[in-house]
Amino acid sequence: MSGPTITDFTGRVVVVTGGAAGIGRALGEAFGRAGAVVVLADVERPALDATVEQLREQTGADISGVVCDVTDPASVDALADEVFARHGATHVLVNNAGVGPPSARVWETTPNDWRWTFGVNVFGVANGVRSFVPRMIASGEPGHVVNTSSSDGAVAPMPGASVYAASKAAVATLTECLGAQLAEGGHPITVSLFLPHGRGLLATGLWTADRNRPPELAREVPRQTPAMTIETLAEMARKAGRELALQPLDEVAEDVLRGIRAGEYCIMLGGREEAARTMRERVERFAAGRNPTEPGHALLPA
Ligand SMILES: NC(=O)c1ccc[n+]([C@@H]2O[C@H](COP(=O)([O-])OP(=O)(O)OC[C@H]3O[C@@H](n4cnc5c(N)ncnc54)[C@H](O)[C@@H]3O)[C@@H](O)[C@H]2O)c1
Repeated sequence: MSGPTITDFTGRVVVVTGGAAGIGRALGEAFGRAGAVVVLADVERPALDATVEQLREQTGADISGVVCDVTDPASVDALADEVFARHGATHVLVNNAGVGPPSARVWETTPNDWRWTFGVNVFGVANGVRSFVPRMIASGEPGHVVNTSSSDGAVAPMPGASVYAASKAAVATLTECLGAQLAEGGHPITVSLFLPHGRGLLATGLWTADRNRPPELAREVPRQTPAMTIETLAEMARKAGRELALQPLDEVAEDVLRGIRAGEYCIMLGGREEAARTMRERVERFAAGRNPTEPGHALLPA
């Protein structure tokens, strides 16, 4: 299948995981405004309820919420059951839920940091694909799967954020394979790799992802410094005499809808050419027998 499968979202059923906050919430709003029937799935019930209520009011769209833990295959199966029972289809699946673990050297990354990060960022996407794609295929209807990765991992890893980068590289690879397999099977379902990007920082809840960390996967190493937040960064920038540049999330979300309509594989607001340049430089270093990743990226505060 080449070319776009979904060019009009009116009446289409769209499922967004991690839809209670940040980019997922902005996607819910954009799809709602475009006339889609939107189901937001998230593990954080109070935030999900509030988001659904606000977005319904703001857009007048058919937006609902389902509490779902993407790390749990049964929970994602239950989400798919509910969506297909209620709406009879899924046309766009956005596997977007993700967390940002503490920054650490690879040899110091703890078992729970690996489990939590890969549980949400990688198995969450795999669970979404496993629960929804067979039913999307069986429906025979056109469909599209968007997997949220990150340029940190999909394009080049920031070595300081190694476990996160490794998880997002895994998402990039599984998305490529998924797209190739769907095309090979002749299914009318296309895929996109979504790399959130823009002209400034994205003010999302990723900075406080620990709020959803399950107690059984608690940090083994206590936090060394207070959690870095967008507010702290903005304050630091102000003290340095600058304004922190923020990228409006609605523009990022609108670009995802544009990318789906255009049938683009990689959706990355304003960053694809630079990413391609970085990838070419990495290939050159690889071809010369060197590590594509050079040293020099500081660790983020843990
Ligand atoms: N913010 C950025 O700068 C940035 C950059 C690149 C990629 N991303 C990716 O974008 C995606 C969205 O993140 P965001 O920045 O909007 O952060 P966010 O914290 O605002 O949103 C993530 C959502 O995922 C939900 N979530 C966490 N664990 C879950 C679980 N087990 N099951 C279901 N939902 C769960 C959270 O409750 C939250 O609502 C993530 O995959 C993230 O890695 C973000």
